[in-house]
Amino acid sequence: MMEVRTDFSIGTMHCRNRVWVASGTFGYGDECLDLVDVNRIGAIITKSLSMKPRDGNPPPRIVETPGGMINSIGLANIGVDRFLEEKAPFLRSIETSVIVNIAASTLEEYRAVLERIEAADCCDGYEINVSCPNVKEGGLSFGTNVRMTAEITRELRPITDKPLIIKLTPNVTSVSEFARAVENEGADAVSLINTLVGMSVDVKTRRPKISTTTGGLSGPAIRPVALAKVYEVVNSVSIPVIGMGGIMCPDDALEFLITGAVAIEIGTANYINPGIAVEIADGIAAYCKDNEISDVNDLIGTLQTDQTISVVKSWL
Ligand SMILES: Cc1cc2nc3c(=O)[nH]c(=O)nc-3n(C[C@H](O)[C@H](O)[C@H](O)COP(=O)(O)O)c2cc1C
Repeated sequence: MMEVRTDFSIGTMHCRNRVWVASGTFGYGDECLDLVDVNRIGAIITKSLSMKPRDGNPPPRIVETPGGMINSIGLANIGVDRFLEEKAPFLRSIETSVIVNIAASTLEEYRAVLERIEAADCCDGYEINVSCPNVKEGGLSFGTNVRMTAEITRELRPITDKPLIIKLTPNVTSVSEFARAVENEGADAVSLINTLVGMSVDVKTRRPKISTTTGGLSGPAIRPVALAKVYEVVNSVSIPVIGMGGIMCPDDALEFLITGAVAIEIGTANYINPGIAVEIADGIAAYCKDNEISDVNDLIGTLQTDQTISVVKSWL
């Protein structure tokens, strides 16, 4: 029987397969131990960590929408001290690669959190959530300003030799401009997409269904948008691209890999089935076997198109 090779590396980080669990949808990896064998996941990405604990936004902060959900958690998290004390020992004990996701309200905070985690040597890589309000620029999201996104990458790059993955927001006009900017500053990879801005209104009360009025839309509803953004970025940079957005089953994941993502992340689907990442990893391997592909790597970027330039460029 043909064995399919599923493992791969980004810099110093080695992953057993291409299926990761997305930040904010799998806690700190220790909450689903009776529901899924975490050692069969390609990488676990932690909930975004800030320096101090954060309570997040008031409820309601999650609402279901057609084909997805809107969340406005507000980056609630336990903060670096508790993370290092309570979560890092477990994460260090598992075989799966661990990626710490970092959120912050200032450039200094991004740097300080990364330095603390780096000193504890408790993970294999970092994903930087730039979709956070910058308190020094009136709450404008870092990730929608290309200069600030580049600056974060420049500041963080010298602090670690571990993979530095910048997680891009789709809520910009040209996501490839952001990908190129962080590539130029030495990012090892980009991941996308974070949630799209969404809104839902209760017509009985005429009130927004979540406390912050707008929030982040995720789930199957955003998959075609996510795939088009991944396609755009794959055609714009030479660093690895990690794709996510509405992936619910193996075929969804395959769409991203064929388009050129080297790995994918599962977010909202974890809420329906915490074991979905392992099922999707098995499904990718089965597809490769059926198609006599001996290494998942040979599938990446095999998209057959008649046009060589990106759709976005062809519109200009
Ligand atoms: C409830 C919830 C919480 C999230 N929290 C975070 C977070 O803390 N940091 C982050 O970078 N992304 C966060 N995300 C975004 C996801 O990691 C992912 O980028 C997004 O949901 C798109 O993927 P999906 O459609 O598979 O969920 C969150 C998403 C959801 C649904």
